[in-house]
Amino acid sequence: MFVTFEGGEGTGKSTQALILADNLKKSGIDVILTREPGGSPGAEIIRNLLVTGSVDRWSTMSEVLLMYAARADHWQNTIKPALDYGKWVLCDRFADSTVAYQGYGRGVNKDFLQLLYSHIVGDTVPDFTFIFDLDVNVGLKRANSRMSGDAVVEGRFEAMDITFHKRLRVGFLEIAKKNQKRCTVLDAKMHPREVHREILKILQEKGALPWSNLPV
Ligand SMILES: Nc1ncnc2c1ncn2[C@@H]1O[C@H](COP(=O)(O)OP(=O)(O)O)[C@@H](O)[C@H]1O
Ligand SMILES: [Mg+2]
Repeated sequence: MFVTFEGGEGTGKSTQALILADNLKKSGIDVILTREPGGSPGAEIIRNLLVTGSVDRWSTMSEVLLMYAARADHWQNTIKPALDYGKWVLCDRFADSTVAYQGYGRGVNKDFLQLLYSHIVGDTVPDFTFIFDLDVNVGLKRANSRMSGDAVVEGRFEAMDITFHKRLRVGFLEIAKKNQKRCTVLDAKMHPREVHREILKILQEKGALPWSNLPV
């Protein structure tokens, strides 16, 4: 089962991915929690290039190709082997973030992004994508309050201007509309416990998890 967590900054993706991973593990499910950009040794090196430094460090196209260079490595070395083995893979951001950030946010042609996807990932799409939707100002405020340790230097995307973040939100909602089969939009204002409950409900309704005995 391949589950992706998508949405803007500070919307609670990492929080929920971790809660779900812990909960599935407790139920005896073989699960890995991974993230993008990053998620494999090579891709983590590329992550560092992408998420640190000045906002205008990379041209749009360099940014796209670095994202896909990282994704190619992550896909090949982490995600695909785990899925082939039958594990659940929970991925904190994936290709929808490239469509939102570089497509809707920075104007890259979406057909080109799709072409990269099909050459690098192939036909596989996530079984479930949770799109975390939240007022942009609330999200950025949350993201800033989280800023400590690595997060302080990893703020390159957070530092982009507010209109960029607003385009992302619109972008993610359009992605959800175009991919209704796999995508669910979550109201990220809710208490983390409620968001988690909603995620479990969807996984159960769609038959990915039994209704019984998952602790909430
Ligand atoms: N549902 C929520 N309500 C309020 N605060 C939250 C919620 N989910 C996460 N947070 C807090 O907001 C900050 C950002 O959450 P995080 O999961 O890191 O977001 P993301 O990974 O989407 O950027 C963290 O400090 C986290 O504890
Ligand atoms: Mg996060």
